[in-house]
Amino acid sequence: MPLDHDRPGNVFLAGFCAVALTGLTSCSGRQSALAPAGEEAQAIYRLFLVMVVGGALIWISVVGLLMIAARRRTPPWSGENAGRLIAWGGVAFPVVILFALLTYTVWLMPGIRPWLSRSVSAGEMIEVTGERFWWRINYPPTDGVAAFKTANELRLPVGQRTAFSLKTADVIHSFWIPALGGKMDMIPGRTNIVSLLPTRTGVFRAPCAEFCGTSHALMAFSVIVMEPEAYASWRRAQAGGNRPERSEGERLFEHHGCVGCHGIRGVTSPATLGPDLTFFGARLTLGAGTLANTRENVARFIRNPEAIKPGVKMPAFDMLPDEDIAAIATYLTELR
Ligand code: CUA
Repeated sequence: MPLDHDRPGNVFLAGFCAVALTGLTSCSGRQSALAPAGEEAQAIYRLFLVMVVGGALIWISVVGLLMIAARRRTPPWSGENAGRLIAWGGVAFPVVILFALLTYTVWLMPGIRPWLSRSVSAGEMIEVTGERFWWRINYPPTDGVAAFKTANELRLPVGQRTAFSLKTADVIHSFWIPALGGKMDMIPGRTNIVSLLPTRTGVFRAPCAEFCGTSHALMAFSVIVMEPEAYASWRRAQAGGNRPERSEGERLFEHHGCVGCHGIRGVTSPATLGPDLTFFGARLTLGAGTLANTRENVARFIRNPEAIKPGVKMPAFDMLPDEDIAAIATYLTELR
């Protein structure tokens, strides 16, 4: 039977294992605030480290004291001494530590939400709107490049601060690119502003961070941070639109009424009800981060979107012949 004084040791061991396991489970990757790729995320990560290391040190000292107390057989303290211990250890110490943490956090705040210079007008920001359950993205005109719409994929230049105006078409969604910075809610009737400065190139994932309905967990967008030159030429190409060769898939896309909701710049009328599909084939995912963007998946999605993404507004097109769906899927995935 274990002795009483073994208990603190067991608590210590269990805590140590928990910390070690957390460290072992991979925290790197495309959707992690612990692998910062932006200035704001770096500040948040630093705060996290200070909290974790500070918390661990305090916990280790408290458990250490507890173990010493449990092993020693000393006579009980006088009331005066016990009172002094509580005053220093239970009041003064927490007050000093909490005040220090508060000071540090307040000092970090300007870096986490940098003050935007007044010269950034709404017309220069990328507008991101939360929809059911996807992301409408409007790029503003810049340096002779026209404005354009896209969906579910954001591209940003490395080393440059980009400002976003955040809106919602229905309920509250939340804009969050963990690798680049903190969250900002998209609130009905409001426009929230956030800015981010990516510090390295890469591909990241941004999940919706506020419960918004049945497919909340299937509402994400990709973020591709590029070198400024590549970014500039991507913007020019986007604004120019697709110029595919006339195909059977394109004819069917129009014939079956897909054009009523989805716009493809350079090809169809600019419908805006559903996600814009210009250069759709170049996107990494389908259905706002739900599936890999392959021809088979696009066909599955057209046949029955509800089966893949419950609550989605797009109706099922399972009444169409399989070869028509296949032709449309081929056409869309070839829009590059
Ligand atoms: Cu949109 Cu959760």
